Amino acid sequence: MSTPVEYQRRGSVGVITVNNPPVNALSTAVRQGIADGLARAAADPDARAAVIIGAGRTFIAGADIREFGKPLQPPDLNEVIRHIEQSTKPVVAALHGTALGGGFEVALGCHYRCAVPTAQLGFPEVKLGLLPGAGGTQRLPRVVGVEAALRMITSGDPIPAAQAKALGLVDEIVQGELLDGAVAFAERLAAEGKPLRKISEMQDKVGDVAPALFDEFRKGLGKSARGFEAPQRCADAVQAAATLPFAEGLKRERELFAGLMQGTQSKAQIHIFFSEREVTKIPDVPKETPVKPIGSAAVLGAGTMGGGIAMNFANAGIPVRVLEMSQEALDRGLAVVRKNYAATVEKGRLSQADMDRRMSLIGGTLSYGDIGSADIVVEAVFEEMAVKKQVFGILEKAARPDAILATNTSTLDIDEIASATSRPGQVIGTHFFSPANVMRLLEIVRGARTSKETIATAMDLARKIRKVGVLVGNCDGFVGNRMLHGYIREAEFLLAEGALPQQVDRVIYDFGLPMGPFTMGDLAGLDVGWRIRKGKAATRPTHLRYSPIGDRICEMGRFGQKTGAGWYRYEKGSRAPIPDPEIEALILRTAKEQGIERRQISDDEILKRCMYPLINEGARILEEGKALRASDIDVIYIYGYGFPVYRGGPMFYADTVGLGAVYDTICGFHKVHGEFWQPAPLLERLAREGKRFRDL
Ligand code: 3HC
Ligand code: NAI
Repeated sequence: MSTPVEYQRRGSVGVITVNNPPVNALSTAVRQGIADGLARAAADPDARAAVIIGAGRTFIAGADIREFGKPLQPPDLNEVIRHIEQSTKPVVAALHGTALGGGFEVALGCHYRCAVPTAQLGFPEVKLGLLPGAGGTQRLPRVVGVEAALRMITSGDPIPAAQAKALGLVDEIVQGELLDGAVAFAERLAAEGKPLRKISEMQDKVGDVAPALFDEFRKGLGKSARGFEAPQRCADAVQAAATLPFAEGLKRERELFAGLMQGTQSKAQIHIFFSEREVTKIPDVPKETPVKPIGSAAVLGAGTMGGGIAMNFANAGIPVRVLEMSQEALDRGLAVVRKNYAATVEKGRLSQADMDRRMSLIGGTLSYGDIGSADIVVEAVFEEMAVKKQVFGILEKAARPDAILATNTSTLDIDEIASATSRPGQVIGTHFFSPANVMRLLEIVRGARTSKETIATAMDLARKIRKVGVLVGNCDGFVGNRMLHGYIREAEFLLAEGALPQQVDRVIYDFGLPMGPFTMGDLAGLDVGWRIRKGKAATRPTHLRYSPIGDRICEMGRFGQKTGAGWYRYEKGSRAPIPDPEIEALILRTAKEQGIERRQISDDEILKRCMYPLINEGARILEEGKALRASDIDVIYIYGYGFPVYRGGPMFYADTVGLGAVYDTICGFHKVHGEFWQPAPLLERLAREGKRFRDL
């Protein structure tokens, strides 16, 4: 096997090349290789300087995450970086691609840095629930100052080379061949006898920082950091840079890093990092499966979902035609799209020129004759089987013979929809989440006859339109919404038993979701579910418990935020839910009517009653093969439902609680509350075997 780090001399410069595809992660062998390369450069009488560069598509993209959790093998990265900095010959980092995490730390250990204009530099550790653990929190503020360092380290977002140059992180931007430029730069350094710049010895940016700055920063971390531990520890580590000598700051950083590494949050976040990549791998649809190019699209229906779906295509530069039944509906739909873009421009997140470009890619039509050339048609018309089948029947003639025919249905049977065409192989579900232009999740629903090429194309399209595509099976509610049924059901049952909407919502919010079930219902609108429940009322099993409170609220004309009242009431123009005594009275009345003696319900019970149905149903879904992996379910919940990343998704969360404990609790609920709590056989088996969903 070739070694992952090579040493060669170019002129008077020793070149240390890291070659560990795909991203040159700092595995044990790479760390050792860099140390060896440095030793060779030091011993090489003809080398006056050294350059560290990455082979392939990138500089070093960080520590090797796969080694985390295993015993650390020497050499320690901090040691390697110390060697670099203490080299008596100048060492230059040559950056391209992404210099991230430990890779960026290696670069900061070098005396100087060159970069191509497309290079990106950053510390993404916080996104893995960690902090830069090889001097990054101590060296970065010494170059860019404490405030800029806090922002970079707690956001995890990389910066482009030009910005890095402006901040003093990059000394030279190389326009041509990177290695040539870096070698020339290193030769110049050596020839001029420029002093070696050791960042660890720079003190002026960290010497005199008011402690209040850190308190203010922590307070201002905001909603996106709520519940996360790492951003706070990142701030602690940067504060150490401003208050301790370098060596002690490094020690403090190490302790903070180790603390995070041992915690559950980093394990959960690393689980999601790998799960997101795993989700693209479909055992019976190999990587080589042909993918149809999608150069144009059509969307049927310009309602709540159709408009947002069309925006996704336009955002990716794909022209899209939106078809409606009437000019009025079309105008209304496209006006909403325009309003959404304009709001983004207003916030300064999109330029007017970009908005105009995107709007120009979205055309409207009332005629199927205008969608005959689209590579994909996404249907987002009313949620009624007869309407869907009628539309797919028309597509049979109107769409190109090889076009993908996708449906955005949220509850209907994909196979029955596909039966309206003679090309079921090209029919697939693309279940977007509302608002479709914002939510990252795309459930890709495989019908019984969906072809592999159609699946591969839909997965590829998800990536192109910047969605996280997860392949799921055809069943009622697919994966995400199917699991949600039990969550909503229990939340409502808890009301009659003694809780109030605000208590349930607070428990779920404190657990880390953006909002609880009742606030969510008010936001989404309560009338949709009501209509569905009324449709199913005649066939509802009478022996099962049913909560009528949701229906009664709708009968009162309270459909949620849009009518100013739902589970809560709302002041005019405000989205803030206000607990409503009228609802409390309704709950008390209903409990009495149902003969339920209300009791004090603990937060712990609320959490379990709401979360464990997700886990139990998730286990059934896995057993039925409707999701490929437990980790796919976790990805669905993170991107579609705002489940806190630091808990790793519902299935990972179950693993952290312990499946034995989850199973026992579910059995307890089964005894008290009956049939709805029948434990899933897979959960029972794993619990008995002492296994986790991750072990499947
Ligand atoms: N360690 C191990 N494997 C890694 C890795 C890493 N740091 N980074 C990426 N990989 C793997 C991926 O899992 C994937 O494997 P697969 O092909 O088997 O699924 C493969 O490399 C390619 O990755 P992507 O599909 O993500 O490739 P992209 O080109 O889309 O993105 C990237 C490249 C921007 C580098 C992206 O992979 C990324 O963000 N990686 C993580 C970077 C990171 O978080 N670095 C910090 C690590 S922690 C650290 O350094 C601690 C230090 O401070 C001590
Ligand atoms: P909507 O009622 O807001 O929009 C539907 C649009 O389709 C209307 O503008 C209507 O005029 C148009 N339409 C109806 N029949 C048509 C036909 N034959 N040809 C062309 N246009 C026609 O509905 P919404 O909410 O956008 O839902 C659309 C689909 O998306 C449904 O299948 C729904 O289940 C699904 N969905 C909805 C979500 C939501 O949160 N609203 C989430 C995920 C999926």
